[in-house]
Amino acid sequence: MFNKQDTFKLTEETKTVITSKQSDNPVAKMVIESLGITVEDLGDEAFLKVQSLGKIPAKYVVFIDEPALSNTKKSKKILSGLAALKEDSIVLLDSFEETNVSELFELITKSQYRFNKFKTEDQPKTNIITYTTTKDLQALVHQGIVFGEAINHTKELINTPYNYLNAEKLAEYAKALNNIPGVTVKIYEKSDCEAMNMGAFLGVNKGSTDAPKLIHIEYLGNPDHDEKTALIGKGVMYDTGGYSLKTPQSMPSMKMDMGGAATVLGAIEAISRLEAKANVSVVVAATDNRIGDNAVVPDDILTSAKGLTIEIVSTDAEGRLTLADALWFAQEKGATRMIDVATLTGAVVAALGDAYTGAFTNDEAFLHEVQNVAKQNNEDIWHLPIHEKYREELKSFSADISNKGGRMAGASIAAAFLEKFVDNNRPWIHLDIAGTSYNSKEGATGRVVKTLAKLFV
Ligand code: BES
Ligand code: MN
Ligand code: ZN
Repeated sequence: MFNKQDTFKLTEETKTVITSKQSDNPVAKMVIESLGITVEDLGDEAFLKVQSLGKIPAKYVVFIDEPALSNTKKSKKILSGLAALKEDSIVLLDSFEETNVSELFELITKSQYRFNKFKTEDQPKTNIITYTTTKDLQALVHQGIVFGEAINHTKELINTPYNYLNAEKLAEYAKALNNIPGVTVKIYEKSDCEAMNMGAFLGVNKGSTDAPKLIHIEYLGNPDHDEKTALIGKGVMYDTGGYSLKTPQSMPSMKMDMGGAATVLGAIEAISRLEAKANVSVVVAATDNRIGDNAVVPDDILTSAKGLTIEIVSTDAEGRLTLADALWFAQEKGATRMIDVATLTGAVVAALGDAYTGAFTNDEAFLHEVQNVAKQNNEDIWHLPIHEKYREELKSFSADISNKGGRMAGASIAAAFLEKFVDNNRPWIHLDIAGTSYNSKEGATGRVVKTLAKLFV
């Protein structure tokens, strides 16, 4: 009943067939019956690989439990199961419910990601062949693949070390997004930033031998509409701490300090490739943070583009300096609301670990909107407060504001600092992804990309 000539085009090379486990589906039913088993034999695994023993023209059959696709824990199992497939595979799309097709293809695309460009040994390549039989499904397949690819690109940027990815390289990467219809990319050089008086951003760059780059991307998918959302990513390409130097224990992994930038770049890639009907921009003030003859020292006072003066208490509180000018720039370019995404504080990691991204806002309705989208995508965002006391922590004897408060509530104090650079209650959300963006075991996680994209898609 299952032969090489049928619509699924199984060939001699086909080693693995992926199908839904749901037995009310005719294709799944056919596969299950061909194997001479029952659906009960498949148990409750989210991902199950069985040998076909020659009963169908493929060596293995993978059964995927469709409801598991939208469950965080179970979809992780599916992802790692798919990632372990080293053979050519065919996806029998016809056996999946339409509602699950996008998720399935996102998982398949993500399962193919490996950070192996620096491994000299040959890496096995997975080649997944897909068949779609209807036009409607093709759009969903496309959507899933775009989400998967955007997330993979974000991860690749975060995983790539500083000596291969400085601000200039990141700007080159961003520039290439120009190829997507509706997207314009502009790179502002150091001299342009000087002309805009971005003393806070440029102050962070002073110890560096690599030039800073301000990246501005615009996607106008709904030009008749007034709303213009800016996604602002922290782009500290490497954070040594500067003269407030990090310890040998806390410095490794600081290549990930551009995680916010990588996240918003992934988001706008998905938003624009999926032709969202929305106006979205990205702003990244990219530089590394290090010591050098010219580097800022504690007690220095910097003047931000907004005009506020900032006393440097710690050169390691650099992310907020770059974001201060990036927020100003986004508003200057007409953002009606803003979301900044940043690996901003160790304190948020102490508070929430890798379970939640920390969120701060001046507009609870806006944050609820984001949290709802996050929920639907199995991403967890926890609302943290900005209390008047945290604002007081930033009072400075010599300047308008200090860049560091006391030892407690570090994530909230950082948010209170950023808030100073948001004009007249313009809706704003600050996402601190220091705990969720990267971990040394799995590398970059790609979290938050899809939530940001799904706000518009
Ligand atoms: N990039 C770090 C925050 C960070 C810490 C990200 C751990 C990922 C993991 C940030 O620039 C930083 O150094 N923050 C300081 C702020 C302090 C000096 C006020 C911190 O959290 O210790
Ligand atoms: Mn720092
Ligand atoms: Zn940093």
